[in-house]
Amino acid sequence: MSINLNEFDAKQVVASDRKHVWHHLSSHKPYEEVDPMVIVKGSGLKVWDAKGNEYLDAVSGAVWTVNVGYGRTEIADAVRDQLVTMNYFAQTAGNVAAAQYAEKLIEKMPGLSRVYYSNSGSEANEKAFKIVRQIAAMKNGGKKHKVLFRERDYHGTTITALSATGQFERKAQYGPFTPGFVEVPHCCEYRSQWGEVDDYGLRAANEIEKVILREGADTVGALCLEPITAGGGVIEPPQGYWDRVQEICKQYDVLLHIDEVVCGLGRTGEWFGYQHYGIKPDIVTMAKGVASGYAAISCTVTTEAIFDIFKENNDARMDYFRDISTFGGCTAGPAAALANMKIIEDENLLDNVKVQGEHLMGRLHGLMDKYNIIGDVRGKGLFAGFEMVVDRQSKEPVDESLAIAIGAHCMRNGVIIGRTNRSFKEYNNTICLSPALIATQDDIDKIVDAIDNALAELAPNAV
Ligand SMILES: Cc1ncc(COP(=O)(O)O)c(C=O)c1O
Repeated sequence: MSINLNEFDAKQVVASDRKHVWHHLSSHKPYEEVDPMVIVKGSGLKVWDAKGNEYLDAVSGAVWTVNVGYGRTEIADAVRDQLVTMNYFAQTAGNVAAAQYAEKLIEKMPGLSRVYYSNSGSEANEKAFKIVRQIAAMKNGGKKHKVLFRERDYHGTTITALSATGQFERKAQYGPFTPGFVEVPHCCEYRSQWGEVDDYGLRAANEIEKVILREGADTVGALCLEPITAGGGVIEPPQGYWDRVQEICKQYDVLLHIDEVVCGLGRTGEWFGYQHYGIKPDIVTMAKGVASGYAAISCTVTTEAIFDIFKENNDARMDYFRDISTFGGCTAGPAAALANMKIIEDENLLDNVKVQGEHLMGRLHGLMDKYNIIGDVRGKGLFAGFEMVVDRQSKEPVDESLAIAIGAHCMRNGVIIGRTNRSFKEYNNTICLSPALIATQDDIDKIVDAIDNALAELAPNAV
C-alpha cells in the first residue's frame, strides 16, 4: 500500500475534513485555529498524517483496537477474497466465514459455545442486555431483569449501553437513561472508598452483594463487568475480587457478563482478560481487537445453557431471540477476524504481550521512581496506565490539563499516547498505553522515553 498525497491533495483532504467531518470525542473549537489531524497511512505501529508527519502509535488506533498492527495485507486479502465470493447475507442464514470464526473462537473459550455477531462493542453489550431481559420475561415473569454495572466501567455509546456505564462525565447530558441498570462500587484500591482495608478485593466484591440484597435478588438478572477497567483508568481488580464475585453470582442466580471489548484477543497476554482469573462467565462480549479494525465486527458469546433457554419453546411465536443486526451479516468481519486470529497464533503474540508487557510495566515503574507526580502504575500485558497526583500523600489528582499537555508533548515528538478523557469525574489524570501486540522492546522504550521527556519538561519535580 502506498498513499503519497501531494501537497495539493493533502491540503484539500484536510480542508474537506475541517469543513464537513464531525470527529468523535472531540471539541471542534480548536479546529477554528489549527488543522485537524488526518491519518493517511499505517504500517506496523506507525501511522502518518496528511502533512507527512510520522508517529509511533502507543494506543492502537487511539482506542486500543489495532491489535495486530497496521498494513496487514493478509487480512486485507482475506477480506477481499471473501467479499468477491459473498459479501453479505443476513445472519438469519449462516455464512462460511462466520461459521469458521465461531468454531475457532469457541476453541479459545472453554465453557462457552454460541456466537452472536454484530458490529460494535456497544451493540454486543446491548444484545447481552436484551438476552438478560428476555430470559427474565420468559422465566421470571419479567422480574429478574436488572443489570448491575460497576462505577468507572464503560460499556458503550448507545443510550442503554451508557445506562450501564459507571463514568459520570461520559454520561452527563445524555439522560434520561434506560431503567433497570444499577451501579455497584468500583474496585480501584488506590482510590479506596473505605480507607485502609486489609482485603480490598473481598470488600469491593461484598459491596456487590449488598447492592443485590438492596435491590432484591429476585430482580437482578446479570452483573456486567470489564475484566480490567479500561477507559475508567486501567484498573485491575485486586486479589480475591473475582472469586467472591463468582460466589455471589452463583448464590443469587445472577448471570456474569464479562465485557472483553478492550481486553479481548490478546491485549493482556491471554486470549481474554477473564482467563487470568479463573472466571467462568455466562456471557462474553468483544469487539475492537476481534478484527483489529480491518472490519467492523463484534461478538456476544454465551453458554449453551443460555442458548437453550431460547429453545425451550414455551411460546414458539415469541420465545426465540427476536433480534437482528443488519450488518451482523457482513462477511468481511468474520473473514478479517479469522485472519487476525491466525496472525496472533502464527506470530506467538500472546507470548510477546507477556514479555513486552513486563518490560512496559518495569519502565513505567522506573518513571514512578523518577517523578513523584506518578501516584500509581497499573495494568496487565500491553495494557497499562499511570495516575498522576499533586502529591502522593493526599493523592489529589492533577488537573486534566496536565494529561492533555503530556499527550500533546509526546505527539509533537512523534508518539501518540492515550489518557482518560472526560470519563470518570475528577480522574481525567491517567495516561493510558496499549500498543499493538507486535510491539518490540525498542518500541516500548521509544514510547516511555517520549513520556519521560514530557514529564521532565512539564512535571519535573523529582522524587
Ligand atoms: C469496555 C468497552 N466496552 C464497550 C465499548 C464500546 O465499543 P464500541 O465503541 O465499539 O461501541 C468500549 C469502547 O471503548 C469499551 O471500552
